[in-house]
Amino acid sequence: MTDIALAVIGGTGLYKLAALENVDSFERDTPYGAASGPVRIGDFAGRRIAFLARHGEGHSVPPHRINYRANLWLLKEAGARRVLAVNAVGGITERWGPRTLGVPDQLIDYTWGRVSTLCEEPGSEVLHVDFTEPYTPALRRAVLKAGAAAGITLVDGGCYGVTQGPRLETRAEVARLRRDGCDLVGMTGMPEAALARELGLDYACLALVANWAAGCGDQTEITLDEVFANLEHATAPIPRLLEHLLAD
Ligand code: HPA
Repeated sequence: MTDIALAVIGGTGLYKLAALENVDSFERDTPYGAASGPVRIGDFAGRRIAFLARHGEGHSVPPHRINYRANLWLLKEAGARRVLAVNAVGGITERWGPRTLGVPDQLIDYTWGRVSTLCEEPGSEVLHVDFTEPYTPALRRAVLKAGAAAGITLVDGGCYGVTQGPRLETRAEVARLRRDGCDLVGMTGMPEAALARELGLDYACLALVANWAAGCGDQTEITLDEVFANLEHATAPIPRLLEHLLAD
């Protein structure tokens, strides 16, 4: 097993880390079935890091079909101990406009029908993990510190409402999320965060705002062109952020 300084799970718009060098691919059968693809392990900023494309490298797996258990198991098996999850989201509250990057500190899970625990199988150990803080505080702080050192503006804190997808939300659904206290909405934050906790992995989310969520901006419709243009913009500083995170 390699010593991995950090694992990155790439979401929509981030399917590889181009700057990885001396890349090895790590693939295994997992107890939970197939992961979204191989873990790519390579040199970056003088350290070994791992990368996995959550939706597959060709974006072929929709949010509700992702095998979150296999993905996290594979990362851990590859040697990862801390995971930075990159998630594309829609912005709800003022601080979370398109192209914003931020590090949420809470979540509400609205997903359904996803296998969301490692204790699904009969006979497996029952795990009641503490989830008061769904993201590892020390890793969140490290990401925020890296952002400050790199001159990258990051929103500190916010509540991520995780919806089922793959469709976007209705205006009324987003109004409910706002009333519930959500600042951002996405489809992939859960069960990933809970499974990371069950596996004993440090885990934090770097949210990239692709669009105003339904009914939040002045647009009447969310277009994919807008989503991808904003994500291209938001992903650009990630390598610099990682460099500072790894230097810490
Ligand atoms: N809703 C849910 N998920 C998303 C959105 C959104 O508006 N934008 C990007 N991912």
